[in-house]
Amino acid sequence: MNLYKNANAPIADRIDDLMSRMTLEEKIGQMIQLPAKEGIVEENYIDRIYDWHIGSFLHCTGKAAEEIQRMAEKSRLGIPVIFGIDAIHGHCFEDKGTVFPSQLSLSCSWDRQIVKEMARVTAKEVRACGIHWTFSPVLCIGRDARWGRVDETFGEDPWLIGELACAAIEGYQGDSLDSEDSILACAKHFAGYGEATGGRDSFEADVSKRKMLSIFLPPFEKAVKKAKVASLMTGYQSNNGLPATSDSWLLREITKKQWGFKGFIVTDWDNVGSLYKKQKVARDLKDAARQGIVGGNDMMMSTDSFFENALQLVQEGTVSEDLIEDSVRRVLKIKFEMGLFDDKRHIPTDRQSEVLGRPEHWDVALDASRESMTLLTNNGVLPLQDMKNKKILLTGSNGDDVIAQLGDWSFGSMQAGHANETYHREDTVTLRDGLKKTSEKYGFDFEYIKGADVLDNGFDETDLVKKRAKNSDYIIVCVGDTIAQHGEGHDRSDLSLTGKQQKLLEVAKASGKKLIVVYIASKPLAISWVKENADAIICCFNPGAKGGTAITEVLLGELNPSGKLTISFPYSAGQIPVFYNKYTGWHSDNEDGKERYIDLPEEPVFSFGEGISYSRFSYSDLKVLTSSIKKGENPQFEVTITNISDVDGTEIAQLYINDVVSTMTTPCMNLKGFHRVDLKAGMSKTVQFTVDWDELAIIDADLKKIVERGEFEVWVGPSSIREKCLKSSFWY
Ligand code: GLC
Repeated sequence: MNLYKNANAPIADRIDDLMSRMTLEEKIGQMIQLPAKEGIVEENYIDRIYDWHIGSFLHCTGKAAEEIQRMAEKSRLGIPVIFGIDAIHGHCFEDKGTVFPSQLSLSCSWDRQIVKEMARVTAKEVRACGIHWTFSPVLCIGRDARWGRVDETFGEDPWLIGELACAAIEGYQGDSLDSEDSILACAKHFAGYGEATGGRDSFEADVSKRKMLSIFLPPFEKAVKKAKVASLMTGYQSNNGLPATSDSWLLREITKKQWGFKGFIVTDWDNVGSLYKKQKVARDLKDAARQGIVGGNDMMMSTDSFFENALQLVQEGTVSEDLIEDSVRRVLKIKFEMGLFDDKRHIPTDRQSEVLGRPEHWDVALDASRESMTLLTNNGVLPLQDMKNKKILLTGSNGDDVIAQLGDWSFGSMQAGHANETYHREDTVTLRDGLKKTSEKYGFDFEYIKGADVLDNGFDETDLVKKRAKNSDYIIVCVGDTIAQHGEGHDRSDLSLTGKQQKLLEVAKASGKKLIVVYIASKPLAISWVKENADAIICCFNPGAKGGTAITEVLLGELNPSGKLTISFPYSAGQIPVFYNKYTGWHSDNEDGKERYIDLPEEPVFSFGEGISYSRFSYSDLKVLTSSIKKGENPQFEVTITNISDVDGTEIAQLYINDVVSTMTTPCMNLKGFHRVDLKAGMSKTVQFTVDWDELAIIDADLKKIVERGEFEVWVGPSSIREKCLKSSFWY
């Protein structure tokens, strides 16, 4: 038997043996990933499996993966194919897959454990379909709400993004990659993709190396060093004029050399082709292939000119075969580690129906939706009580729109291919479904009138709402956006509520009834009017298939919400950039001394970390346990939190730090710790925070990471609003 086929031989020896048998064509084939969908392989790539020895396909659904895997097994060396898919909030492209809240929604849980459990369930369902790899988690920083992909981020803070990304990666990859419950994670988009100027998807990002090292790389460094992420995906955009795809400082120096990254880097969709077609940094597709290889990408997604060009580049001596071999080794190592050469090559065909959408998976999804619920305002109208014989009028199209509720990268996305409107319907509970189901239990009357569409399409039932509001006690208006208004290549210049949503809100307000707003959207929109006029606001973003159940439970007091925002709500697009960890020094000569535009407040409508509960909490006795720290010492703090209400609840206590004086400008504060604290009514708990010494560092003018001597301020409280925090300081 050839050594590489011996499952008991060391993987390094098996790779050496296999590499020694591979032709240059077969090696290059391992660097190619092409699209495949249900039953067919796009653009006749079937014959490419043999001619180009393709090593990977993406977007396989149904039985496509198994079909292709069996063909690859018959190839000369029988090298297995590795399949990837965008299962980024559950295995959403399969109708029976479990659909979780979007990353942005789930991030508001501030719960590493539920993020890990989401990933665990997703891994089991993806692997059961013969797919080995999800292009998730997204580590982009959501700092511009105009961008179409903010919903895919864990919000605006790099530190929290890193924490939650590691939880997701650990959930996806499990304890061992050769388990049938584990898949490869992919930290993306490497790096700085969300910083494209003006929120314009894939556009130029003005990110200096120092800002890259200070803000955008730290989450990826945690993913590589702490969570051992198996793959990275290169972003579409250019940073400071250099496409990420051809940036060897990023893809070789930082990751493979400095961080010791042992996995592999895949480009985003046709990034190599874009070097020539869009970014115009390559004189032809062959030069683009050269840049993609030399830049440090190990696998090229959906660039079908790559095979011939790479072959020529090596044969003519322009590109060293050593670079090809390094990439191929990285890819083969993963395939061996996943057992794909051995007993894990094929998945039993009945496994998909056994695993997808198991009841225990939906239990996790419901818990995830519950923890994502973020109560932004409440004048006491919630929770609804003594509802017998009362009347609830629900209005707004997002109150009963499955795709608006599930969000991007589920069946409504352009990548979903064969999916259709029926997908996930029977598993999805909209707010309309949830209220209808509970009306009998609580004895209230319930009516749903769509009232207005999210899109400007002329649909207007506001007169009917006005009429029916007269004999209602509560009006619940569901507002937000829908799949046509976000996603890849769908950025917005104006963040106002579209269609007749604002008119619907004003009709509801004018009725004089209690106005409760439920916010289902992919991103923060301009809802300052809602903050001023609603009696309560529940923010859900895209809350997943069980979102309607969770919202209904909050409305009726069965669930005490604990979510906190991980992204700021701007007054308008004009206030962007507006995020909590801002720089100071804005010359703005206002009577209140605030750093702001003359026509806007300094703060956003809602700040990072905000979210209230049916409980009330107080903070006391902030203690700095290390008032003066030595080099390398982790500062420690403790604080007491008390539930001063008569309702058991959960508070997410946050800790922020500021380097008061430093040789470079630094943000006014940075999140460096949090605790989810469960507290019974009237109880107190003292919690401790320990901050890694490394987290005190800045990147100096020479791009060196250094903790500078001086004073550090510390704030601990319910959000990033400093006036609501306890403050102290320590010295190094
Ligand atoms: C898309 C996205 C990326 C995704 C990939 C495969 O263009 O940018 O996030 O993983 O293509 O679908």
